[in-house]
Amino acid sequence: MRPKSDIPLHHSSRKSDSRSHSSSHCSRASPLSALIGRRRVSFASCLILLALLVVVAAPVVEALSSSTASVITGASGYVGRAVAHALIQRNILPERNDNDTTTILCLVRPSRVQEEQEYWKKQEEANNKCTTNTVVLVRPYDMLDGGTSLQEVLLGEPCVASADGVCVHHVASWFSPTDEHVPAAQGNVKGTEDLVRVLAEFKNSRMSKSNNRIKLIVTSSMAAVRATGQEPQNQQFYTHEDWNTLSKLGDNNWGASYQWSKAESERRAKQLCQEFQIPMVALCPSFVFGPLADTATSSSSFSTQLVAQWIQGSSQVQSRLFVDVRDIAQAHVQAEQEDIEGRYIVSTERRLSSAVVARILEDESRALQYTPPSPISYDAAFDGGAIPIGDKEVEAEQRLVEELGIQELQPAEDTIRDMSRVLIGMFLQKKKEDSKR
Ligand SMILES: NC(=O)c1ccc[n+]([C@@H]2O[C@H](COP(=O)([O-])OP(=O)(O)OC[C@H]3O[C@@H](n4cnc5c(N)ncnc54)[C@H](OP(=O)(O)O)[C@@H]3O)[C@@H](O)[C@H]2O)c1
Repeated sequence: MRPKSDIPLHHSSRKSDSRSHSSSHCSRASPLSALIGRRRVSFASCLILLALLVVVAAPVVEALSSSTASVITGASGYVGRAVAHALIQRNILPERNDNDTTTILCLVRPSRVQEEQEYWKKQEEANNKCTTNTVVLVRPYDMLDGGTSLQEVLLGEPCVASADGVCVHHVASWFSPTDEHVPAAQGNVKGTEDLVRVLAEFKNSRMSKSNNRIKLIVTSSMAAVRATGQEPQNQQFYTHEDWNTLSKLGDNNWGASYQWSKAESERRAKQLCQEFQIPMVALCPSFVFGPLADTATSSSSFSTQLVAQWIQGSSQVQSRLFVDVRDIAQAHVQAEQEDIEGRYIVSTERRLSSAVVARILEDESRALQYTPPSPISYDAAFDGGAIPIGDKEVEAEQRLVEELGIQELQPAEDTIRDMSRVLIGMFLQKKKEDSKR
């Protein structure tokens, strides 16, 4: 038996509000009892009337309600965790219909299932104000098993089979330095291909009642848009029409293999989705920075490793084009909701200089009374490569606002500040725990 955690995130206050609302009307005659009283209707007639009401009202309620399943691969990672929280947050918004039910399926490596279940259980206990009708399920997923674990979820879970809409957010991917970068990169591509094939199988299966409401959202990358140093097509800045044509698998460093894998994964996903007629959105974030959604689970994301090194002075601060993790999470939510397909760059449009980033990290360290093991330093030599630091590097924001409905991206300075606060808090906490041992 595989472990299951079916965690309803109830909005107790709204439910109890409605209960107290109806009880406060107990003393007054309801329209039904008024009708019964006036006409002296028999008990049997009353039952018939009630049955009629049920028959008439049920299809109306069904038509007004919907059930959706959002499946997130890599749900315990830095971005995946933020996507799960953003999808739950969406369901707390007042415009949501109380009859809508949402299941969020967090897919994590089999070895992480228990930890993930405990995480969501704690969230539920700590956060009673969550939405009605949202259930978080944790299920095992291995991106490299040829699609078997995903098949079990899509074809084996009743809540998915019966959902009106099913959206898969494919966030999982290898993304950290390793000498084994060639098989890791090939795994990213194969894992994506397998995922689309299983989704197509699900689409065609008789079990699924959501044939026309299946969607795939792939977390691609700016790495799929351009290789390091690649000139933009328009000679000025990158757009969603640029593709990385230069990165090579196994080009003697893990970064090149990773970049190749992101471009190839997105290309293959697009081809297969066209073949199987599955609507797809590719989100291409630049570097993702910003506060971790939780500090308890250690993320191996290269993003958090990098900024942690900068704060601790173990590597020089670099100038990177980046976007806030809260914005990429929001982009996933919007991509699921909006009737859109295609490719979106999710990024601020200009880089901050390494000097500005280093100053923010120093200010935050000082404010939190944290002394880094080595002084914070920055790379002053890098000028931005193909596009000088400070110039418009990508075109992204207008499409994000107009087509995806993102209100406004987090200012880059806030992203770095908020992330450094969380990371410094983690370092201080660890120091405290170490000193107690
Ligand atoms: N962070 C960035 O700057 C950035 C920028 C552009 C695009 N992206 C993309 O965003 C996505 C998330 O990245 P992240 O920064 O959140 O990194 P992350 O924290 O390492 O998340 C990656 C997730 O994928 C899971 N995963 C990897 N291999 C797997 C496998 N074989 N089977 C099942 N799960 C597997 C990881 O699980 P484990 O933790 O158990 O290994 C992890 O949960 C990736 O697709 C990445 O390419 C990230």
